[in-house]
Amino acid sequence: MTDRYVVIGNPIAHSKSPQIHACFAQQTGQELSYERLLAPLDGFDATVRDFIAGGGCGANVTVPFKLDAFALAAERSARAQAAGAVNTLKFDGDLIYGDNTDGVGLVRDIIVNAGIDLGGARVLLLGAGGAARGVILPLLEQLPAQIVIANRTLAKADALVEQFSHTALSAARFDALSGSFDIVINATSASLSAELPPVPASVFGATTFAYDMMYGAAPTVFMQAAASHGARVCDGLGMLVEQAAESFFLWRGVRPDTAPVCQWLREQL
Ligand code: ATR
Repeated sequence: MTDRYVVIGNPIAHSKSPQIHACFAQQTGQELSYERLLAPLDGFDATVRDFIAGGGCGANVTVPFKLDAFALAAERSARAQAAGAVNTLKFDGDLIYGDNTDGVGLVRDIIVNAGIDLGGARVLLLGAGGAARGVILPLLEQLPAQIVIANRTLAKADALVEQFSHTALSAARFDALSGSFDIVINATSASLSAELPPVPASVFGATTFAYDMMYGAAPTVFMQAAASHGARVCDGLGMLVEQAAESFFLWRGVRPDTAPVCQWLREQL
């Protein structure tokens, strides 16, 4: 019987994960199926348990169920624990294992695909919601000199600094930021509504790498603003593919080549 995987969300019709994993499976010669699975808003656990009962091997989890997946997992990776959210489930008999591959996906896109060194870098992380929290541990593991978390609601940035309790981390209001950063990462959800987090232009310098975790057919407003101040810019399409590759690796023990998949997806936008 073919090993079965799904991506669970609500809504789910838009998800590109089935196409990405189909590419990975073809490329690596792995025999598996990967489909979209819509769960009712109040029925995540039941949907997962039905899928396991039907022989499911693993699942990706997307909006709005990453916290439900965290709660459901009996065992969790350190990075899922730090993120407080799970985007990848692996089933081993009745055991549900939860991981979070979003942060490592971002880090690989920055280091491997964009060729940017995070070691010793001065990093500005915009936002203090779930997306920001999910990337902090994998970023810290690259030993940046500094990660400043800037958020509209300062208390949420302060809470993250307290949670991770690391000397490289600090919190700031947008209007208190000064000087340019090597890397500016937009982890706010502002791009979804074509808004710009109110960062001073001075955070961008000629050697700044500005990364938006969102992506689309056109550059986001954040990317446009960063580019207008001289920064090199990148969207989050590569992160999407890299987090998928890490999930695939967790499930199958094989690491796919992400470059052709990124290129193919870009052409579909
Ligand atoms: P996600 O899971 O995508 O991180 P979230 O947990 O709701 O979603 O967090 C959204 C983040 O985007 C928050 O940091 C939010 O700032 P607040 O904590 O002050 O609400 C930030 N955000 C959303 N819209 C924004 C905007 N227009 N400008 C600046 N920050 C914004």
